[in-house]
Amino acid sequence: MCGIIGYIGNKEAMPILLQGLRRLEYRGYDSAGIAVLNDQETKYKIQIQRIRAVGKIDALADKLKGKDKEMKGTIGIAHTRWATHGGVTEENAHPHFACDGKLIIAHNGIIENYRQLKEHLGANHEFKSETDTEVLAHLIESHYTGDLRHAVEKALMHTRGTYGLVVMHADHPDKIVAARLGSPLVVGIGDGEYYIASDATPLLAYTKKVAFLNDGEIAEISRTGFETYNLRDESVAKCVEEIDWNDEQAQKQGYPHFMLKEIFDQPTVLEDAIRGRTNLEDGTAHLGGLSMSEEKMRGIHRIILIACGTAYYAAMVGKYAFERLAGITTEVDVASEFRYRDPVIDEHTLVFAISQSGETIDTLAAVREAKRRGAFVRGIVNVIGSTIARETGAGTYIHAGPELAVASTKAYINMSVIMILYALQFGRLRHTTLATGQRLIHALMEIPEKMNKILEQSEAIKKLAEKYSGYKNFLFLGRGINYPVVLEGSHKLKEVSYIHSEAYPAGEMKHGVNALLSPEFPVLAIMTKNQLYEKMRSNIEEVRARKSKVILLASEGDTEAQSLADDVIYVPQTMELLEPLLNTIPLQLFAYHMAVLLGRDVDRPRNLAKSVTVE
Ligand code: F6R
Repeated sequence: MCGIIGYIGNKEAMPILLQGLRRLEYRGYDSAGIAVLNDQETKYKIQIQRIRAVGKIDALADKLKGKDKEMKGTIGIAHTRWATHGGVTEENAHPHFACDGKLIIAHNGIIENYRQLKEHLGANHEFKSETDTEVLAHLIESHYTGDLRHAVEKALMHTRGTYGLVVMHADHPDKIVAARLGSPLVVGIGDGEYYIASDATPLLAYTKKVAFLNDGEIAEISRTGFETYNLRDESVAKCVEEIDWNDEQAQKQGYPHFMLKEIFDQPTVLEDAIRGRTNLEDGTAHLGGLSMSEEKMRGIHRIILIACGTAYYAAMVGKYAFERLAGITTEVDVASEFRYRDPVIDEHTLVFAISQSGETIDTLAAVREAKRRGAFVRGIVNVIGSTIARETGAGTYIHAGPELAVASTKAYINMSVIMILYALQFGRLRHTTLATGQRLIHALMEIPEKMNKILEQSEAIKKLAEKYSGYKNFLFLGRGINYPVVLEGSHKLKEVSYIHSEAYPAGEMKHGVNALLSPEFPVLAIMTKNQLYEKMRSNIEEVRARKSKVILLASEGDTEAQSLADDVIYVPQTMELLEPLLNTIPLQLFAYHMAVLLGRDVDRPRNLAKSVTVE
């Protein structure tokens, strides 16, 4: 969703802001803008110059061409907007000026009472957009008497809603004021220069030192440092953290799309996720982030996994793992449902919140609700320093590195493996034997190499996508541990190719879905060699009898698969519990190639955003 980048230092701000916007593109947006405070030129009457454009950052970059003089200055703010209040127009794009052209703001989040505030500000203020953000700009202006931070503080007392906010004022060429409530902001610390952004990705090219603002904090950032205050105007000490991602990871590295790059990253990031977290001798895992004594772990009777979208399908893999290895009753809940029902939670309940971004508003709200009800709550999160990571205090990073395609791929794999490791850790305190634990760890070590064997089939899967690209619907079928895999495969296909697809547990077919089967409705099914192989085989026979085309995912060496299917993708065998780590990859590749063939915007599918910070 919306992204913010701000800079204050000794370099020209405009190129830094423009590059920052490009790094924020992955979040999803429909317009963008840059404002620079020109404290060096007198020719321009208005000291703050602003340029905005609808559409891609390239459209903004085109408008900025030849404007180097006008946009000169070493302090500036910029924004990518994902429309909520008001249509996708240049007038609604951020940053927004207040009346006198001296104060300008960019804002993520929603000011819920903006209509009342607008009415209250009255006829003295002229509004040029339909946005809640512009109202906030005028509100800050109405409180301004020479001290910018105090004006922001006072204005925010009157707002209801969420914000990640950056403000610049022509009378203060030496500071940016930033405030956060519900929408993340991170300060980047350089050498005599500072950055402020909605996440760390645009900062990686410049610094790894960061400080995260908490809700209710307001920062004053200058060229010599930054101070943080709470809304009672008390100074708040901040600790500086080092992020271990690098800018290289946040680039395409020769791949045509981030999605393909991230699919190919999977063998490496899986190794990153498991490194140092298993103990072969004891046949167990050690995830320090759990911060729970063995006695407390034995006292857990119920696990609830909460997540949204792809993270939810990873959570379903987790359910199989927790129940099989640890024998703990495990529920999986969509975060937006969990937060509004009455979940039964007691002191023996452990809740895991699973999120790539660590900012998904529904998952965050579910975390808060679970905490209020007394559960142990832990995060399984990718983005370092994100809100869910911090609000769960303890928890585990999945180490997938920056994931910039909107469609999540490598995060799904690493979330799944972290839950399998947690299940092993719990299981070894219960009924999982040493031999099973050791077998699992051995099998896990072999996964990266097996993943590579699947990735080598990318071109063959592309040909398959070509063959099937004319179909308007797909049905995905799986059973057992492969049911979440087909849900995820179908989700990927919908997201990036816009083709309608459904996923079902194959045993459900006779209860209704069989009615859909026809030669126009191809079926992609997983029939790998596991305990449900024979059951799955019968289901496929039934599909074929109804003349649907069948693409089968089968285990290497399965000589019968060919006779059951129109096309077969072979995958290496592994322990059943680890199958999602392999079987998901061909489905990701199928969705990716299909999307490319159909000319879709693969990394930024229509109507979707990477980090869903509004409900
Ligand atoms: C799918 C996708 C979304 C996210 C969902 C949760 O490819 O990216 O379905 O999985 O929005 O996001 P996080 O994991 O950031 O909480």
